[in-house]
Amino acid sequence: MTRDPYDFAAWTSFIPESEIRRLLKYNVPYYFGGGKPGALPVEIFAKILIDLGQEQLDQIRKGNEARVIDDLNYGPTGGKPFFRKTLAERLMKYDHITLDKDNPEDDITITTGSQQALYAILDTCIDKDDVILTTSPAYLGFLTPAVKLGARIVTVPTDLQGAIPEHFEAAIKICEKELGRKPEMMYLVPDSDNPKGTTMPKQRREAIFDLAMEHNMIIVEDGAYREIQFRQPTEKPIKALDEDNKYVAYLRTTSKEAAVLRIGYSVFPPKMREQICKDKGYLDLCSPTLLQRILDIYYRKYIDKALPKGLKIYKRRYETMAKAIDETFPAGKRTDPTGGFFIWWESDDSTFDTKQFLEQTALPNDIIYVPGIAFYPLRGFTYRTDENMLVDVERPTNTMRISYSFTSSDIIEKGVRRLGKLLTEKLS
Ligand SMILES: Cc1ncc(COP(=O)(O)O)c(C=O)c1O
Repeated sequence: MTRDPYDFAAWTSFIPESEIRRLLKYNVPYYFGGGKPGALPVEIFAKILIDLGQEQLDQIRKGNEARVIDDLNYGPTGGKPFFRKTLAERLMKYDHITLDKDNPEDDITITTGSQQALYAILDTCIDKDDVILTTSPAYLGFLTPAVKLGARIVTVPTDLQGAIPEHFEAAIKICEKELGRKPEMMYLVPDSDNPKGTTMPKQRREAIFDLAMEHNMIIVEDGAYREIQFRQPTEKPIKALDEDNKYVAYLRTTSKEAAVLRIGYSVFPPKMREQICKDKGYLDLCSPTLLQRILDIYYRKYIDKALPKGLKIYKRRYETMAKAIDETFPAGKRTDPTGGFFIWWESDDSTFDTKQFLEQTALPNDIIYVPGIAFYPLRGFTYRTDENMLVDVERPTNTMRISYSFTSSDIIEKGVRRLGKLLTEKLS
């Protein structure tokens, strides 16, 4: 028998392309798919590029080429100190996060998007069959790499306020009984999560942190939408409770709050940071220095003025979408986010298949949303609260995530009403 020249790794046969990435290919007018930021401070970034270019030219003319060479070069694996310092100051000031007193920037790690931080956490902490607790549904960019790396994911039901600590506590006990081990970590998006858009109240954040301490578990707190909050003030991150920097890996990203320049910033407990940086050293050596330079200017000079303008736009888009859903969708429930990029809708008809409907009806009508099934793991378990047991993962088909972040209110108004009409024709 001749040898197959493309003898791919086993995971390639059971891990599909990301549903969100797949849908990005379609260029339709009514785009409610991926979490693409649409209210971007374009003028500010154009100005930063001009100013930075001019500054570099001045440096070259003055004979300081080395400074410019540094901007265009490889940098430290965990990020440039000047940028880490800017971010550290913000995290301490606005999010009440305790960092090293003398050198707070040492506690910050820069990654190539927070997606890389998620991947590196899994890559460094998870062995085959390790158990991870997360919400049902959850961000697919965490779920799929976890499955790929052999984790056993246990999803725990959520409500309109996100993760429910009592269910997490019961699920930890059941994991010990049925899977023979405690979960290694919990993954949560407490501020306007992806995909449901729900936000955890203070008491729940505290209870989840207590659980991590009691069971010696890591919390992976993904704060991707932390700055995209319409309702102020916001609850402190769970990380703010972790004063000894021991239990919470806190992930943030510039993608949603600044621009998609593929730069994430995290606070890891020191032992984790060491391993994650080692991993990153092999994943991409370092994140681009020039992008850190650009973002550093943005965070030092512009973000505090630019963000409120962006939030106003997102809030308006959200309100337009919520109203159009309420007025045109058939029987079902939607979430009511106080921030973030998404509304989650669930049809009252549990047999309805939103993926099939997307292919057969929505796409031909120029509409894209993400079928909810993408946000449940391909393999794993669901904690059934009514029977207090684990069952094979439940992946309901009757839900959808509809993003309001990218398109203008006018388009949302037209597109969501069109979607509502099509859904009503199908389901009534
Ligand atoms: C919850 C969540 N975490 C992480 C990411 C990854 O973002 P990035 O890699 O752009 O920082 C996303 C992107 O959509 C997200 O929604």
